[in-house]
Amino acid sequence: MRIDIVTIFPEYFGVLDVSLLGRAREDGILDVQVHDLRAFTHDRHRTVDDKPYGGGAGMVMKPEPWGEALDAILDLDGAANASNPLDAILDLDSTVGPDAQQLTRDAPLVIFPSPAGEVFTQAMARELSTADHLVFGCGRYEGIDQRVFEYAESRASVRLVSLGDYVLNGGEVAVMAMIEAIGRLIPGVIGNPESLVEESHEDGLLEYPSYTKPAEWRGYEVPPVLMGGNHGAIATWRRDAQLERTRRVRPDLLPE
Ligand code: ADE
Repeated sequence: MRIDIVTIFPEYFGVLDVSLLGRAREDGILDVQVHDLRAFTHDRHRTVDDKPYGGGAGMVMKPEPWGEALDAILDLDGAANASNPLDAILDLDSTVGPDAQQLTRDAPLVIFPSPAGEVFTQAMARELSTADHLVFGCGRYEGIDQRVFEYAESRASVRLVSLGDYVLNGGEVAVMAMIEAIGRLIPGVIGNPESLVEESHEDGLLEYPSYTKPAEWRGYEVPPVLMGGNHGAIATWRRDAQLERTRRVRPDLLPE
């Protein structure tokens, strides 16, 4: 998967060099490119924001650098696809017209993190983990000039995505969270894919509690059923624990 990130704080994304995602980059599973929005400005001060039309507090991100950044990334994507031998083969088989387009590689998806967007979920992470190319645009200040979204929509699929009902200073932390949630679902990123199956949210419930040795620690004991070797009883205990925890902490996840 190719991921492009546009930001005025490229240094935020240094952490993508470490841990499982760092390994995935080394292994060529993930190709992450971070772009400094200020590189697409042309004035001495590398200005990316200005006062809002209509007045009001704060600053709004200017459309011009965003337009240039999106063009650079999306033009590159088009060029890469055109020279992809697989596409050439597919195009040979296709008819000219709208159908021909469906046979080319997935169009990039542009994601703008925003508290005004749809809420990011495990289901969305799973859906996005199958994409070929994601582009993340990190807004700051009071947001990005609305015309940038309209322009992006004319060139690619666009989604506004929120991490939750609270306000961050900018999109960077939200993008980091999304990339981690998406990246670990890409085949090959996590050594043992089975560990993904029984996690919170994968089956709509919170996960069951886990224990390891020693069997007793500071007076706290491991539930005996987990040490008895009866796999049916263990599965029942875990399911009950999931339901109890979900009912107590997140009743909104349970069906009515
Ligand atoms: N930017 C600011 N707040 C945000 C949030 N809650 N989710 C995503 N991006 C944001």
